[in-house]
Amino acid sequence: LGARSVSQKLAARHVLVTAGPTHEPIDPVRYIANRSSGQQGFAIAGALATLGARVTLVAGPVQLATPPGVERIDVETAAQMAAAVDEALPADAAVLVAAVADWRVDVAAQKLKKGMGAPELALLPNPDILADLARDPRRPALLVGFAAETERVVENATDKRLRKGVDWIVANDVSGNVMGGTANTVHLVTAAGVEDWPLMSKQDVAARLAERIADALTQDPA
Ligand code: CTP
Ligand code: CA
Repeated sequence: LGARSVSQKLAARHVLVTAGPTHEPIDPVRYIANRSSGQQGFAIAGALATLGARVTLVAGPVQLATPPGVERIDVETAAQMAAAVDEALPADAAVLVAAVADWRVDVAAQKLKKGMGAPELALLPNPDILADLARDPRRPALLVGFAAETERVVENATDKRLRKGVDWIVANDVSGNVMGGTANTVHLVTAAGVEDWPLMSKQDVAARLAERIADALTQDPA
């Protein structure tokens, strides 16, 4: 079987994906970051494109190749990611995998100097892109979030699904070396309950999730 024989279940569908970390500047030369490598989100974007979807990938700062057939928009900060997501709408589905910084810094116009003493960083809340999208009139029909948790993984993810008003949460146990690693243990939390997926590669998580998204978008309403 060649690539052309792969099923194009998502042909003519637009899926929006966010991936990677955000960087929040402190001053012109410094920033706050997190350990997200972007691998899981990039793999999901690629798997969706393989199923024929038009994929817009809003990517934080990562060193990864763009998957074939994916339109990539690079951003640095959470505010830029929120604006890029807004611009990419409408979409049939959105999968927000990015590890968005929860806070930004009140940025200093000039480089902070050591002689000034240890600075007090004033942190300001960032927009919650996922929660905002859930309330948006252009909300995609299927909205999927990720929840990176180090404890009470399923409980926290179940709370997050309800609190944020999203359809599915992929709960990610990041207590090991998941961030930056190539394998993932996830639980799919939906209105129907919780599915525990076995430990698998991020590529396999992506392929399985893309198939589920295709099924959800293409099933006939009962
Ligand atoms: N998310 C987002 N915008 C933010 C924060 C999170 O879009 N400012 C999205 C992430 O992409 C992910 C989901 O929300 O799909 C959950 O992110 P997570 O950090 O686990 O949830 P928070 O609500 O930020 O809660 P906490 O970090 O306190 O666990
Ligand atoms: Ca967070």
